[in-house]
Amino acid sequence: MDTGLSGKVIVITGGSTGFGRGIAVRMAGEGAKVVVGDVRETANPDGFDERPELTTVQLIRQNGGEALFAPCDVTKRHEVANLVRTAVERFGRLDVMVNNAGIYRGGKLLHEFEEADLDVCFDVNVRGSFLGAQEAIKVFLRQGRGGNIINLVSTAGLQGHPKQSVYNISKGAQANLTRCLAIEYGREGIRVNGICPTYAKTALTRAFVDDKTFDAMFVESIPLKRWGEISDIADLAVFLASERSSYIHGALIRIDGGETLCRYSV
Ligand SMILES: NC(=O)c1ccc[n+]([C@@H]2O[C@H](COP(=O)([O-])OP(=O)(O)OC[C@H]3O[C@@H](n4cnc5c(N)ncnc54)[C@H](O)[C@@H]3O)[C@@H](O)[C@H]2O)c1
Repeated sequence: MDTGLSGKVIVITGGSTGFGRGIAVRMAGEGAKVVVGDVRETANPDGFDERPELTTVQLIRQNGGEALFAPCDVTKRHEVANLVRTAVERFGRLDVMVNNAGIYRGGKLLHEFEEADLDVCFDVNVRGSFLGAQEAIKVFLRQGRGGNIINLVSTAGLQGHPKQSVYNISKGAQANLTRCLAIEYGREGIRVNGICPTYAKTALTRAFVDDKTFDAMFVESIPLKRWGEISDIADLAVFLASERSSYIHGALIRIDGGETLCRYSV
């Protein structure tokens, strides 16, 4: 499939490890110029990343691609603005913004959560995507040739799950942010979509992967009988960034091995 991503400029938040890193490497492999923003530059050693001893930028360059790292805490407006500005100054334009940075809080009933859990989940997951979208849209409108925003949401943004209300309501907000942006900016040729994975193997889910009881129960509940992998999410992100998906807009795409189709699998 010709993705048409060659020469496109792509900003990815949280791109040092996990989904963001996988997406960055795949898009750079398609010829895109990638700017990675993250609070850390190295891969999280608890993750499941390819060549974790290399930073994302080192891995991309080793593969012959073009990439830059810009330190960025997505909860801070000036750092997000700087990330987007870096892409435009160094590569001359912005084509795709991937709001991927996110954190998880769970394992408690609603009344057991601290307000600090709510604050941090909203700051990173909601404010981070909001700021990323705002800064990207300003550039897209100035450039006048449309744009593309991809939000890393979750099946947690589409339904309730026990003992993760704080995470779920932040992901629900991201899902509605995706819808609102799609409605407001479609006329400008700015496409906006959300990727909604179930649990996939990254540092974020390490504790679940290592829990043998959870692992067995989870795999059994998935019609495809396996965990999601970083490459599954990267493939979908490449498709959504490409013109091959040019009429997909405002979609919240479940990527979950069929999990959300049924309560029990066979
Ligand atoms: N792994 C899953 O099962 C799963 C499922 C559904 C949705 N998601 C979502 O996918 C996205 C990526 O998750 P992941 O599993 O790759 O997580 P991860 O923990 O492996 O990677 C997250 C990355 O985001 C960065 N980050 C965290 N806070 C940041 C901040 N304030 N500013 C900038 N960067 C920050 C981290 O340093 C890290 O590099 C998140 O939005 C997550 O909610 C993950």
